[in-house]
Amino acid sequence: MAAEKLEAPASVSIEIFEKYDEELSQECHNIIAALPSESDWFSVQLYRYQGFWYQKRLIQPILNCQKHFQAHDTDIFIATPLKCGTTWLKALTFTIINRKKYNLNPNLDTTQTNAPHPLLTANPHVLVPNLEFDLYFNTNNPDLSSFPSPRLLSSHLPYASLPEPAKQSRCKMVFLCRNPKDVFVSFWHFTNRLRPDIQEFNTIEYLFEKFCRGVNYFGPFWDHVLGYYKESLERPEKIMFLKYEELKSEPVRVLKDLGKFLGYGFSEEEENGNVIDDILRLCSFENLKNLEVNKSEKLPAGVENKTYFRRGEVGDWKNFLTIDMMKQIDAITEEKFGKHDLKF
Ligand code: A3P
Repeated sequence: MAAEKLEAPASVSIEIFEKYDEELSQECHNIIAALPSESDWFSVQLYRYQGFWYQKRLIQPILNCQKHFQAHDTDIFIATPLKCGTTWLKALTFTIINRKKYNLNPNLDTTQTNAPHPLLTANPHVLVPNLEFDLYFNTNNPDLSSFPSPRLLSSHLPYASLPEPAKQSRCKMVFLCRNPKDVFVSFWHFTNRLRPDIQEFNTIEYLFEKFCRGVNYFGPFWDHVLGYYKESLERPEKIMFLKYEELKSEPVRVLKDLGKFLGYGFSEEEENGNVIDDILRLCSFENLKNLEVNKSEKLPAGVENKTYFRRGEVGDWKNFLTIDMMKQIDAITEEKFGKHDLKF
């Protein structure tokens, strides 16, 4: 176990994880006061709102977007629990939709017909903003009118807590999930990369116990997945349900399906040419991780871009979980997913 050395923490200050009480509306104070709570790995309180766990700083943005977000039928949402491959899916979706605008292959001289690709200089989280962390974090009702159509947006919110207009409109959602054992291991590393210098590393045992009880950001993980899964069965034209593992094992097939689902299907000429390969190469773990922007820059909230690129493999849990841990997560997964025939 723990074969890999933990990385040194990114230097983030703990302030970015808390929203100060005076910034909260009275309504938000009242709601929070009545919620069950428990401390998280930063010793910051987590609150259970509408069945899922959040830091206090997120309750206000969630209320804001639930109250004010207006959907367009052309909107595209990337929906994910944490650590399921959000960064990758954002890069792929942005690139599929904009593939005619930008140069997909920086090594080819395209005689300057297309502009340089934005992924070369911007992290995917900047190109596809998140409702609760970016757009509604500091503003009750942000002006989204300057966003080009289709608006490419993202959220970690469970399906039930999404703003009603997003659910009622004809906008499309792509949901990406992942084997819970890999999600947990990725999340554990993530917490340790984000921890302030003054704080000890989180032990895997400490976080594991919380994860299995569902007490982690946007958790319980299993309920989060099931919410979108069930809805995707009811409304397959609205929600595409994807797994990180299938994206890894059959990237060409998934990309074709994704393009078609979004209304940006690949032409025969594109399928027979290099376009799909170029998109996959541009958005690959190796390429994105090694771009200067992702090695040295930070997101506006202060988190270092490199925090989102760790190993990018399927089955890394084998290097960190004990047999007992594996059995425990598998038992929960079977209990929650078994009857829905959802397998990882
Ligand atoms: P690991 O920690 O297992 O390496 P998210 O983007 O939802 O925060 O998920 C992060 C996980 O996706 C991390 O997993 C990260 O390494 C992996 N990841 C990031 N970019 C990727 C890419 N282009 N291809 C595959 N995996 C990627």
